[in-house]
Amino acid sequence: MSATTYPNYSPGLEGVIAGITKISQITSATSSLIYRGINVHELAEHGTFEETAFLLIHGHLPTAAELEHFNKMLVEERNIPYSILDCLKLLPHKMHPMDALRAAYAMLPAYDPDYHADPTDHAANVRKATRIIAKASTIVTAAWRIHHGQEPIAPDPHLRTAANFLYMLNGEKPDEFTEKVMDASLILYAEHTYNASTFACRVTVATLSDIYSGIVSGIGTLKGPLHGGANEEAMRMLLDIGSPDKAEAWTRDALTNKKKIMGFGHREYKNGDSRAFYLTKVAKEIGVRKGNTTWGAIADTMEGIMLKEKGLYPNVDFPAAYAYYLLDIPIDLYTPIFVIARTAGWCAHAIEQLDGNRLIRPTCVYEGPTDVAWTPVALR
Ligand SMILES: CC(C)(COP(=O)(O)OP(=O)(O)OC[C@H]1O[C@@H](n2cnc3c(N)ncnc32)[C@H](O)[C@@H]1OP(=O)(O)O)[C@@H](O)C(=O)NCCC(=O)NCCS
Repeated sequence: MSATTYPNYSPGLEGVIAGITKISQITSATSSLIYRGINVHELAEHGTFEETAFLLIHGHLPTAAELEHFNKMLVEERNIPYSILDCLKLLPHKMHPMDALRAAYAMLPAYDPDYHADPTDHAANVRKATRIIAKASTIVTAAWRIHHGQEPIAPDPHLRTAANFLYMLNGEKPDEFTEKVMDASLILYAEHTYNASTFACRVTVATLSDIYSGIVSGIGTLKGPLHGGANEEAMRMLLDIGSPDKAEAWTRDALTNKKKIMGFGHREYKNGDSRAFYLTKVAKEIGVRKGNTTWGAIADTMEGIMLKEKGLYPNVDFPAAYAYYLLDIPIDLYTPIFVIARTAGWCAHAIEQLDGNRLIRPTCVYEGPTDVAWTPVALR
């Protein structure tokens, strides 16, 4: 039976309203994205990741005093327990950092001072959210360094999230421009309505499980190449193409062979991804500053063909891929960086879900056989 036979059924839940939120809004017609009413371009241009995380979780931009307090709490909560570091050391070195991240967040709740708080306790959930956001960069960089035979670098209390991430990765404090690029990318990745990982997070916490379980669901869901994993795949694709003169043939060949081209298309944006417009500008500027415009030139060719042939625009993962590459960030860390940012959105959604909770339990249509008789094992 075809999918259209059933009223109210939409494969992949496309177009289905699965909840009401006050956290963010995508407007496809204008390719715009707002967090709590504020355009993300404004936040990326003028704000910081910390202000954005506060905005998402608390619902308003922080005052100077609130921001100072929030920054202090993030700094205080950055360390991860030694036993978790020890566990990371035991994990196979071939493990992708997304799997290490998921494992670390699965272990963290028992170390949280609010472990025994009621799952709907708003104040405790806000405190947990701050701890969850604070620890993400530390876990990512520690796991990366351990698996590359290096000692983790302790967080620097004088650096904000973006700069501290880069510092804990390679021991060098970034220059102002690099920090700004990193910060803007975290802001743009921080939240995106009812995407797959956020929905998974909300489904998990809606059972009155805890926020950490929601984060674990979110990480597992984000990992896939149709979602967050696309930024890593997009860079591998760009490297495979190699030079601007090969971009057209490569893209046309991929389209002829009905290959999905990573970093293009979006379920919600049909006129282009708001975040990609901003990040493309930034990624190209890094290329110019670094004297490497190869990736921007390949991107231009691919974007032209994809728009003409398929009506598809790049999504945020496309410019993020070559922006991070130009900043010398290892490819396997692109999706974990997405996690560092998205912990803010996931936590905001988990809190919103638990503040007015209703179990999320859709229904389905059964199309299998009925009236099948039991057959004893010896007769099967
Ligand atoms: C994001 C994505 C999953 C959205 O998918 P969707 O809304 O379910 O759209 P569909 O996969 O049904 O695609 C609709 C059509 O566009 C095509 N299409 C969509 N994205 C495409 C892409 N990246 N490359 C090539 N064709 C693509 C599909 O093949 C399909 O064409 P058809 O109608 O001729 O069969 C999809 O665009 C995709 O897989 N993109 C690549 C992965 C990616 O970048 N993910 C990050 C998202 S932020």
